[in-house]
Order: sequence, then structure tokens, then C-alpha cells
Amino acid sequence: MKTYIVGNWKMNLTVGESSIYLQKLLKRIRPAKGIEVAVSPSLIAIQPLRMQLDKNNSKVKLVAQNFYHRDYGAFTGEVSVSQLRGLVNYAIVGHSERRYVFGETNKDLKQKVAAAIRNGITPILCIGETENEKNFGETADVLRDQLLGGLSEIDAEDVKKVVIAYEPVWAISSNKGARLAAPDEIAESIKLIRNELKETYGKETADETPVLYGGSVNPNNAGAYLTIPGVNGLLIGGSSLVSDHFIDIIELAKRLRA
Ligand code: PGA
Repeated sequence: MKTYIVGNWKMNLTVGESSIYLQKLLKRIRPAKGIEVAVSPSLIAIQPLRMQLDKNNSKVKLVAQNFYHRDYGAFTGEVSVSQLRGLVNYAIVGHSERRYVFGETNKDLKQKVAAAIRNGITPILCIGETENEKNFGETADVLRDQLLGGLSEIDAEDVKKVVIAYEPVWAISSNKGARLAAPDEIAESIKLIRNELKETYGKETADETPVLYGGSVNPNNAGAYLTIPGVNGLLIGGSSLVSDHFIDIIELAKRLRA
């Protein structure tokens, strides 16, 4: 299984800044076997970054932060995943900011996962409990609901084409009072996710589906998070905005695999 290092830039960086960042990344990192490096710029930066990448070899993959599940039609202001074909390799689905700021539900998200699969783009399905849900002992129920809900529109054999990202909402850096998740807390949730995949789709799917961790990852804690059993990579928000930090995490991932 690859190790995924994915930067989620959220609504940050202009097109010019994104391009400078990518240039630096391409200059500084060497392709490494088994390491998948990807960044998720804003939608308007995707096309120029794609052109920039096509001139080089593609050691960095592009990720869409969001899209609409229909392929085309009268949906003013939306961008479909079929319009993103050829531009991105991955697309984030169900990030907690989409769920809680924009009110997206499992019903929306299962359609997005299906649309991405239909268009040959790998969905990165984010799931995670809020602080209240954790305090009320609801973590397992929430993870099951978001995981199986998000996957419910695709065929069982396609499940391993999805990347799952476990992102406890209470650990995401932009949330007030966020605290660092302890590796054993993460390990417990990862185990729940893999068990759920196993019970529903079988052992092979559970073993072959990549599961990432995200939530306040930085160069100091990335090593501890990457070595949690069952974690196949990291989804990094704030820290990925500083290219030096993102590059440090990539280098660390390479050393851990070497
Ligand atoms: P963070 O964001 O690394 O800033 O906590 C992670 C995410 O929201 O994907």
C-alpha cells in the first residue's frame, strides 16, 4: 500500500501563490517509490497547476476540494467531477467543513462518491466525530454512519478505489479549542473503520482500502501519526500551507518507508 501525503489548502493561496508553491515542491522533492504526494488547491488554480505539472513529470497529484455530483446541466455555480476529469486524480468528499458549514449530508456525499468513481477520479471520503459526539460515546456510531452512508451508492468491488480519511472534527486546527489527537485515540478509530469495512465488504477490501489520518498534523507529530497501525498517510491542512513544512513531512514519510 502507498503512503499518501495530501495537502488540503482549503480556501487559501491565490493562483499565483499556488503556482509558486508547486514550483518549489517540484524542485525540492524527488519521486519516491510508494509515496503519493498530492495537493488540493482552490478550484480556480487547478487548471494552471495542471498545465504546470504536465510540463514536468507528474510527481505531484492534484486533488479537487469539492464538486457537484451531477455530470452536467443547469446547476449554476457548480463544477462537476466530469469537468474535472483529466485535471485532478483525487477529489475530497465530505470534509467536515462541507458537512458542518455547508450542510452536506450522507445523501449528498454518497452521490459524490459515486460520481467520482463513475468518472475515474479517486474520492477521498472524510469521516470523523465532533467533540460532543466523542464525549457522548458516539464515535463508533458516527464513523459507521458516515463510512457506510458515503459508500452506499457504489458497488462493493469499487470500495477499495476509495481513500478514507479519518479526521476527528475536534482535532482540526481551524476549530476553536482543537487539541492534538493522541495516537492511541486515532488507532482505536482506525480499527473501528477497518472492522466496519471488513464486516460489510470482507477482509480483502478492509485490507486494501487506504485510510489516512487528518487533524493538526505538523512536521513534529507526523512521524507518530504515520506509524499508527493501519494508517496509510496523512491529510494535512494548515501545515501544508507552509511548503517547507509540507516538504519536511514528505521527507519524513520517505524515511519511514525506506
Ligand atoms: P488541519 O486540517 O491539518 O489544519 O487540522 C486538516 C483538514 O481539515 O483536512
